[in-house]
Amino acid sequence: MNNLLQAGTLKPTLIFPAGMPRSLEYLEKCKREGQSVIGSSSLAYDVSREKYPAWTYLPYITDPEFNNSLKNVIEEFDIGGIYTPNPVAWSYLNRVLKNINADILLVNEWPVTDELSGYRAATSHARQMFDQPLSLASSLPAKASISQLEIATLFRHGNVIPGMCDDEKISALCEIARYSTKGDVVEIGSWWGKSAFILARLSRCYGIGKTLCVDPWSSEHAVQNDEGGLVDSCIPNYDCEEALRVFEMNLLPYSANDINYLRMPSTAGAKHYGKYKNATTESFGSTDYSGKIAILHIDGNHSYEAAKADIETWSSYVVPGGWIVIDDYVWPYGNGPKRVGDEYLAENLSRISAAFVMGTALFLQLEALVR
Ligand SMILES: C[S@@+](CC[C@H](N)C(=O)[O-])C[C@H]1O[C@@H](n2cnc3c(N)ncnc32)[C@H](O)[C@@H]1O
Repeated sequence: MNNLLQAGTLKPTLIFPAGMPRSLEYLEKCKREGQSVIGSSSLAYDVSREKYPAWTYLPYITDPEFNNSLKNVIEEFDIGGIYTPNPVAWSYLNRVLKNINADILLVNEWPVTDELSGYRAATSHARQMFDQPLSLASSLPAKASISQLEIATLFRHGNVIPGMCDDEKISALCEIARYSTKGDVVEIGSWWGKSAFILARLSRCYGIGKTLCVDPWSSEHAVQNDEGGLVDSCIPNYDCEEALRVFEMNLLPYSANDINYLRMPSTAGAKHYGKYKNATTESFGSTDYSGKIAILHIDGNHSYEAAKADIETWSSYVVPGGWIVIDDYVWPYGNGPKRVGDEYLAENLSRISAAFVMGTALFLQLEALVR
């Protein structure tokens, strides 16, 4: 068992070596939580020292003087615990710390556990999906699934992007992509780009088509008129310009002229899409679309009026066999998406071949013309 200490000690935490990226992340966390810290490394001059409120030098752990120096630092600064993301330093300290000062503990787990936890979770999600496949009664035949490794990769990279697309929804999107016809993949409401990444990647893997994201990225359009106003009250805390930059940073590495966006509300976006079948942006260049939608993901403004306008303006582009996904069909802050989904279902029942709710989203597949 390692010398794990619960964070939150009032005494200062020593961060060593203090310049590693994880050390700097930990420093930021301590600052946010009001935990005092002291940075330390074995470099004569460490550029990261400017970032720390206090600093001290320690020799390399291979230096015979290291243990004595550390003992002195602990006493001099009244250190309460030590954080080290370096696996070798961690192993060494985990072994010898009790001999240097019996009261001091490492505040973090074996660093590799932390580094790999996201990969391990993604691998486990992918394994689960293979062990318990979702049975879909689709009007189209299924394509062979992408490999377990591809799915793990999708979860891993997707979950690095902050956003509102949970693992259940990712699993369902993986499955509907197997039963998708060819065409454009259009998302209404992308924000930081999490679900856009998942859709674009699946579209590439299954040869579906190009991805178009439609979002005004503006606080004016973010108003949802949610019941109780809880969602709307958060709007001032978001920066829409930053959200678009984050979206671009998340999607650019994955685009091979097959991802782009329209920075406009969905109804204007539908007109533009129908007329030009093109999106041109400084960051992604110029992308031509087919004008026929294979997967339409509606996750924009959730007021009834806005969600209704989304489906009315975009659904006519969805081809037979295409999918319409209405996010937040189950939503604690209002029933706009649910009313819109139910109305669409009722009005189009005869041409819908599959409908299910998974997580919080409603998935609808239009009847394919040829079985
Ligand atoms: C819930 S977020 C989208 C989350 C994203 N799909 C994800 O999974 O991470 C809702 C997005 O809808 C956008 N939005 C609001 N009104 C819109 C409209 N009229 N047309 C298109 N997008 C809109 C907002 O700017 C915001 O980015």
